[in-house]
Amino acid sequence: MANYLVTGGAGFIGSNLVEHLLARGEAVRVLDNLSTGRRHNLDAFRERIEFIEGDIREPGDCAQAAADMDYVLHQAALPSVPRSLADPATTHAVNVTGALNLLVAARDAKVRRFVFASSSSVYGDQAEEFKHEGLPLCPMSPYAASKAAGEHYLRAFSQCFGLETVALRYFNVFGPRQDPDSPYSAVIPLFIMALLRGEQPVIYGDGLQARDFTYVENVVSANVLAATGSFEARGQAYNIACGEAIGIAELLALIAASLDVNVKPVYREGRSGDVRTSKARVEAASKAFGFRAGVDAKRGLHQTVAFYSAAHRGAGR
Ligand SMILES: NC(=O)c1ccc[n+]([C@@H]2O[C@H](COP(=O)([O-])OP(=O)(O)OC[C@H]3O[C@@H](n4cnc5c(N)ncnc54)[C@H](O)[C@@H]3O)[C@@H](O)[C@H]2O)c1
Repeated sequence: MANYLVTGGAGFIGSNLVEHLLARGEAVRVLDNLSTGRRHNLDAFRERIEFIEGDIREPGDCAQAAADMDYVLHQAALPSVPRSLADPATTHAVNVTGALNLLVAARDAKVRRFVFASSSSVYGDQAEEFKHEGLPLCPMSPYAASKAAGEHYLRAFSQCFGLETVALRYFNVFGPRQDPDSPYSAVIPLFIMALLRGEQPVIYGDGLQARDFTYVENVVSANVLAATGSFEARGQAYNIACGEAIGIAELLALIAASLDVNVKPVYREGRSGDVRTSKARVEAASKAFGFRAGVDAKRGLHQTVAFYSAAHRGAGR
């Protein structure tokens, strides 16, 4: 049994990680300030984890959380492009200064490895059909810039202090417990909830913009492999994705088919900071630590639709 710190553990990806780690018999501590995460995401595991309600912008909270840990899986962040456009300074404080505070704490606590939730948004729009790790970083939003900065700090800490660090560039993650009710919610829970509530879903732009939608189970297994795999972890970044892109309008049609409903979306003007197509190569992660996307996007979509449908039925009772 090893000791894992999951920052942002009350959030969507973090709580899925907590569930998986507990099932493996690991000891789990969560650091979360419950800003975008929800306490109820941890209800089922509350008795089996140590929960610290704290803020990664506070170095003292980070030091308390990192003490005696073997691995840090750093998920806490303000995870939204539009939010970063509305308030770049807070995105910077949480995503960059917060990551730095946690790196310092992890170094001082002599953790074995630090895994960082980065994002495909660091690539921006590039001519290549596939995003691969050899491309230059081209952040197009304060959020993307904050993730690129985090990656640079990981490399620097590896270089200067010998801390083992790995960045995982997640591509559009979806699955159970993703927040469907925030103004910054991601497209899949928004679409599913709109259809369950009988509302018209909104598509920004022409609907042909495409994303490499990645089921959360794949991201969870990538974190564990990246933390425990025997490879040189010196701040390299790896794509974590399925390797195929689905257009937004097609995605909505798939969800509607899964729910067996007809759909007529409203089209609105495209949003600034949004990239056109995001599709990944994942060979580097596969080579370094044996990553593979075990659940493809379509199967993940079915599972996700089933989760929200059950939750919606439960709420209606
Ligand atoms: N969901 C995606 O598609 C996606 C894609 C790429 C990268 N990521 C990254 O994955 C990570 C997890 O994202 P998510 O989708 O689960 O989002 P989420 O909002 O559900 O989770 C983020 C968690 O961080 C916590 N948090 C925020 N600010 C904090 C602070 N100052 N101190 C302590 N805790 C704080 C929130 O309360 C929340 O529980 C983020 O770093 C995000 O940038 C997500």
